Amino acid sequence: MALCPCLLAVTSLAILVRGQIQSRQDALLCAAEPWGRYSASGGLYTVNGVQYMYSFGGDTVSDEDGRGGVVNTNWRFRLTGNGTKCWERLADSPAAVGYRSTATILNGTHVYLFGGGDARRAATGQLWRYALLENTWKELLPSEVAGSWPTARYKHATIKLSETKMLLLGGRSGVTVLSDAWLFDLEQMSWSLAGENILQVYRHGMAYDPTRHVAWINGGLDGNRQRYGSQLWRWNLSSFEIELISTEGPGPSRLASHAAEYISDLDAVLLWSGTCSDDVQLYLYSIANSSWCAVYAANRPDRRDAMIWALDYPKFYVAQGDLICHNFGVCPIVDVHMFDFSAPWHGWQMLYEPRNARGTGSEPFCDGTNKGSCQPQPLLQEQGARISQPAGCERTFMDPLSTWPAVSSTTTPATSSSQPPGSAGAHQAAFGLAVALWACTMDL
Ligand SMILES: *[C@@H]1O[C@H](CO)[C@@H](O)[C@H](O)[C@H]1NC(C)=O
Ligand SMILES: *[C@@H]1O[C@H](CO)[C@@H](O)[C@H](O)[C@H]1NC(C)=O
Ligand SMILES: *[C@@H]1O[C@H](CO)[C@@H](O)[C@H](O)[C@H]1NC(C)=O
Ligand SMILES: *[C@@H]1O[C@H](CO)[C@@H](O)[C@H](O)[C@H]1NC(C)=O
Repeated sequence: MALCPCLLAVTSLAILVRGQIQSRQDALLCAAEPWGRYSASGGLYTVNGVQYMYSFGGDTVSDEDGRGGVVNTNWRFRLTGNGTKCWERLADSPAAVGYRSTATILNGTHVYLFGGGDARRAATGQLWRYALLENTWKELLPSEVAGSWPTARYKHATIKLSETKMLLLGGRSGVTVLSDAWLFDLEQMSWSLAGENILQVYRHGMAYDPTRHVAWINGGLDGNRQRYGSQLWRWNLSSFEIELISTEGPGPSRLASHAAEYISDLDAVLLWSGTCSDDVQLYLYSIANSSWCAVYAANRPDRRDAMIWALDYPKFYVAQGDLICHNFGVCPIVDVHMFDFSAPWHGWQMLYEPRNARGTGSEPFCDGTNKGSCQPQPLLQEQGARISQPAGCERTFMDPLSTWPAVSSTTTPATSSSQPPGSAGAHQAAFGLAVALWACTMDL
């Protein structure tokens, strides 16, 4: 008994790590917390002057018998305003939506979600319209939309071309990897086939570059369901021709279900995560120089894929995902992190540290016996900053690393995530306690 207050004190002291904005204690003030999830869709939307990161559906892979759970629960995380930042539960969607359905905001206040996996993880061709102000869902049926309808698919990617147009490419249905592109036009309320045999790909990163009217595409898996290498494609949206770009420097390799954004202020493409073979560095591709820069800011979130992300330059947000690199387990989480290009010396900052293993959601499969949660895995890959590759390349994109405090001049090895918790460093020690409190079992 006498040990308890002491243990609690140590826990609360140790748990706040550098770069953390809100702790697990703060999360306890929130009314609810979603289950960890991956393959949700969403983005950053402003509603009544407040910015939120929205999360629609996803897979909570929750239960012991491996049934998993693609859910119809939806949430938003407040990014601006005062007070504790929390996840807030939204209206359930009429059906479960997972496996990287895409969510695209058009005409200001409505989000259009296409495709994704259903509760049995089968590909769908569903088109949903979610009203941000009313918090309501509506399914758009083929009878309401002109033109032929795209075939069912999941893990495709969509870009917004304008307030009334979105374009999708690729995806997968069963063992078939798709290569077609489809345009949704809100003004005409129509779908149209934009191109066939563009590129067989799914789980790719795709970002729209309005300066050139092209899409930049990287990673994902090919027609044989093998990961692509480091290719960067430029897809000309006037001619619909796609070409491989030759690039220089330490570019990403074999990313899938990663974040991809075009940053107009930097005229650069940003890629992040989606592999166990890197150190969750930010990859920045300078279009002018055709060169890659890998930036290792401090407090990088643990490696993951199929997370949601949002860019509101200079801020880049990531949330949720599957911590893929822990003994090949599926470890869905619900943390939120931010990198601020205008203050890189802060490193990544954790905006939300999950407070428990499962959250409070009344989700399917939430029967108290679930053992699929791995939130107590370390939430950070590495606390220290490291020299960019090539050295100094970050100067093109942000304040140089020499002005960041506490950067060692030698390359520190990454904290091995496969190490038993509690084996090294204060951060690991904190998680050692956390793991003792919330044991994580992984089904292999
Ligand atoms: C947030 O707090 C600041 C400082 O206390 C105050 O000036 C501001 O009005 C608050 N904003 C809102 C939206 O409440
Ligand atoms: C776009 O939004 C406006 C105002 O919110 C609405 O009146 C209009 O019908 C919308 N257009 C389409 C094509 O949905
Ligand atoms: C895209 O194709 C059009 C038409 O062929 C061409 O005029 C334009 O220069 C191309 N854009 C890029 C960025 O290559
Ligand atoms: C391109 O490379 C030059 C010379 O290495 C460098 O000074 C410049 O900052 C780079 N520009 C971009 C946009 O990467």
